[in-house]
Amino acid sequence: MTVLFIGGSRRKESLNTKLKHRLVEVAEKHGIQHKLLDADALDAPIYHGDLEEAEGVPESMQALAKAIDAADKVVLVSPEYNSSVSPLIKNAIDWVSRLDMQAWSGKTVLLAAASPGGLGGLRAVSHLRDILANVKAWTAPMCASCPNASDSAIASMDEEFLINFLRQGDNG
Ligand code: FNR
Repeated sequence: MTVLFIGGSRRKESLNTKLKHRLVEVAEKHGIQHKLLDADALDAPIYHGDLEEAEGVPESMQALAKAIDAADKVVLVSPEYNSSVSPLIKNAIDWVSRLDMQAWSGKTVLLAAASPGGLGGLRAVSHLRDILANVKAWTAPMCASCPNASDSAIASMDEEFLINFLRQGDNG
């Protein structure tokens, strides 16, 4: 069982990257095999059809699709912008969906978000569920959301909750 962790913010002090690392720390402590992609792995031009026709799907997105395909489970940690998902993640989902591989299809996806706001990025999580349903991924019911996020709020998230979050989908 390999879990692939993907973060959706390239900001140096990203709260979502910190949440991703907290989740990885819990995974490591509980012996969960994992791989980590930083947000640079999502780097690609904004999708449009003419670009795809001229140049095909960018290599970075082909590599991302392979990494998703090889994982048993994917943890997506997304910031919320204007009540929705990180454009970096949305663009990557769009590109990957253009490949024959259909890497998302049947994949178990766990959703996490951190925000300084009181809703903790839950609206981004909700939109991600719809987007991922379209590429036939299965999104787990529990999400790991950190409202009023800060270094200390992320550090003090309950470990038992986080391990239960990470174990979703383990039994098929
Ligand atoms: C935000 N932010 C934000 N937060 C939120 O909870 N709901 C929202 O709708 C928005 N909208 C929004 C729009 C734009 C354009 C920006 C730049 C920011 C705040 C956002 O959650 C905050 O900046 C996080 O710190 C971004 O995530 P990282 O980079 O820290 O991981």
